[in-house]
Amino acid sequence: MSVIEFTDVALSYAKGNQALAGVNVLIEKGEFVFLVGSTGSGKSSFLKLIYRDELPSSGEVYINNNDITTLSKSKVPYLRRNIGVIFQDFKLLDYKTVFENIAYALEVTGCPSPEIPQKVEDVLSIVGLSEKKDRLPEELSGGEKQLTSIARALVHNPSILLADEPTGNLDPDSTWNIMRILDFINSKGTTVIMATHDMNIVNKMKKRVIVIEGGKVASDEGPSMEIPELKD
Ligand SMILES: Nc1ncnc2c1ncn2[C@@H]1O[C@H](COP(=O)(O)OP(=O)(O)OP(=O)(O)O)[C@@H](O)[C@H]1O
Ligand SMILES: [Mg+2]
Repeated sequence: MSVIEFTDVALSYAKGNQALAGVNVLIEKGEFVFLVGSTGSGKSSFLKLIYRDELPSSGEVYINNNDITTLSKSKVPYLRRNIGVIFQDFKLLDYKTVFENIAYALEVTGCPSPEIPQKVEDVLSIVGLSEKKDRLPEELSGGEKQLTSIARALVHNPSILLADEPTGNLDPDSTWNIMRILDFINSKGTTVIMATHDMNIVNKMKKRVIVIEGGKVASDEGPSMEIPELKD
């Protein structure tokens, strides 16, 4: 079953800036896909269409076989609960601890309070951050901040995890720890799509690679391909 399908998708921002055009992509349940391409090529825009942060100017985006371009605004939160998103700059709340940042994601969606601590402990243990749960973000390394944001993305048990340059600010050790965790999450059945500039990761991980250039899919290769260095 396809989890994500783009049919002839175009996205133009205000001021006539065309970010994507003629994009047709099918992603199956449980795939791990890298999105690569030079800066401004359309990777973040591609991800934004999946969690309906942007609507296409034309074409359709299907998530679990539902056209989300026609989804009413009131149903968007339900879509987003099924999709975890992580970013290069973590987007944590500075005044909340690791535990509270994750718990907050459950509180705002009306999760019953008694269920929250166990759910938070479970995702902290997946990312290996249980011992740091009472720290504030400013008391964490960059890698630990990203682990917190991954835990927060996982707490709703999403079927899709989107990662927009999640290792962009991290040293090599933290980067590989994040990749190991994303690979583990994927092995449990979550579809993972990760935009990155790091061709070292892409070449080592041997996953499907979609190259976006100038808003179009320039190539879409399976896991065995060795991808050449891209210019930026
Ligand atoms: N909110 C916006 N308003 C207008 N134009 C935008 C907006 N967001 C992105 N763009 C433009 O759309 C194009 C694609 O941008 P996008 O952020 O998707 O690229 P990207 O591949 O993620 O780049 P990077 O690797 O630098 O993150 C660029 O030309 C960019 O300037
Ligand atoms: Mg981007």
